[in-house]
Amino acid sequence: MAVDLLLGLQWGDEGKGKIVDVLTSKYNIIARFQGGPNAGHTLVFNGKKHVLHTIPSGIFHEDTVNVVGNGVVIDPVIFKKELDKLAEQGVDYKKALLISRKAHIILPTHRLLDAASEASKGKAKIGSTLKGIGPTYMDKTGRNGIRVGDIELADWKDKYRSLADKHEDMIKFYNVDIQYNLKELETEFFEAIATLKTLTFIDSEEYLHQSMKSGQTILAEGAQGSLLDIDFGTYPFVTSSNTTAAGACTGLGIAPTQIGEVFGIFKAYTTRVGSGPFPTELFDADGETMAKVGHEFGATTGRPRRCGWLDLVALRYACQINGVTQLIMMKGDVLSGFKTLKVCTAYNYKGEEITHLPFNIEEENVTPIYTEFKGWNEDLTEMTEASQMPKALNDYIDFLEKELEIPITIVSVGPDRKQTIVRQ
Ligand code: IMP
Repeated sequence: MAVDLLLGLQWGDEGKGKIVDVLTSKYNIIARFQGGPNAGHTLVFNGKKHVLHTIPSGIFHEDTVNVVGNGVVIDPVIFKKELDKLAEQGVDYKKALLISRKAHIILPTHRLLDAASEASKGKAKIGSTLKGIGPTYMDKTGRNGIRVGDIELADWKDKYRSLADKHEDMIKFYNVDIQYNLKELETEFFEAIATLKTLTFIDSEEYLHQSMKSGQTILAEGAQGSLLDIDFGTYPFVTSSNTTAAGACTGLGIAPTQIGEVFGIFKAYTTRVGSGPFPTELFDADGETMAKVGHEFGATTGRPRRCGWLDLVALRYACQINGVTQLIMMKGDVLSGFKTLKVCTAYNYKGEEITHLPFNIEEENVTPIYTEFKGWNEDLTEMTEASQMPKALNDYIDFLEKELEIPITIVSVGPDRKQTIVRQ
């Protein structure tokens, strides 16, 4: 069996958690392949909202196995909090959750380093979620990291101490005012490590390989979005992992030839949280309406998200890099009531019209060129069938499909599992 991928095509927060949850009944295994607690995957069902950070979004389905892959970075403290919440809701996660021994661990000092690095950057800060993601991936590529499998070894605390000591020296080097009590942070950390140890650790690449061989269906769940990819995103305003399809190969140990469908998720408009260029960003009443109606606040940090029109130049780029085979459009309902909608179809780049994403998309280099559409007034949130969708929405979707040359197979019209229209 092939592995299907599901990933975000914009700057994250596209609604991946909801769609994984909707699609989970088709899969035996859901596997997270990168990122960590910087993600906030929101699921709404039976009138309740659930936010997951590191645990795959299939955890609420009884018969689904959830794998945290080697490409993920785990903060034991946040992971424990997620487990505690699941336990409160009566979710029996022990059987359903498997963790790769090769996944890296976020230490308390990684979080402190993240804060120190951001503070030292001043106005040029990345707008990190301050979860220690960057420093942990730095230690991974620097070959200094501590992995889940290490905590099964007798001498791992020595390795911990020398890495934490080195981090403290690095924090001093930044010469910024970061207040912390490492003893307290460590008490909490080691308690959480004890909880982590009660879970099942696996050699996940082998597990997934054998599962595929025996005909199990697997969905790889991405985090963040393609424009936050360390290689292809709006560097340096990106996260520290490969959020694109290639990241699923390295983050789970699956071969490119084993990939089946690639589900690309995008919002009907665009949002971004944190710093960095955003060509179609709005600073007017339209942007405010999107933020208000779309409840555009970060699921992890609560920060307000920047909002703007749909950027087809960026979306085309993301489809290309990921090899997207099916598109899923989120939050169409948020655009109800706009008299006119705009879609950016090209950029004016230093006086020339271009349709690809150039190296440099800062405001001084790029001006969006828009195509306008008639809006719709109908409330979409109660719709369940494609036949109920207003003509103006269909026109909008037809245009996007033609431009991107990929079918939009699902349209989401609200946060609940039930508010999902399948178009095929
Ligand atoms: P970091 O991954 O916490 O280092 O943050 C780097 C950049 O990615 C910042 O601009 C964050 O706001 C952004 N970011 C990280 N994770 C997410 C996410 O899950 N959704 C949206 N933005 C994210």
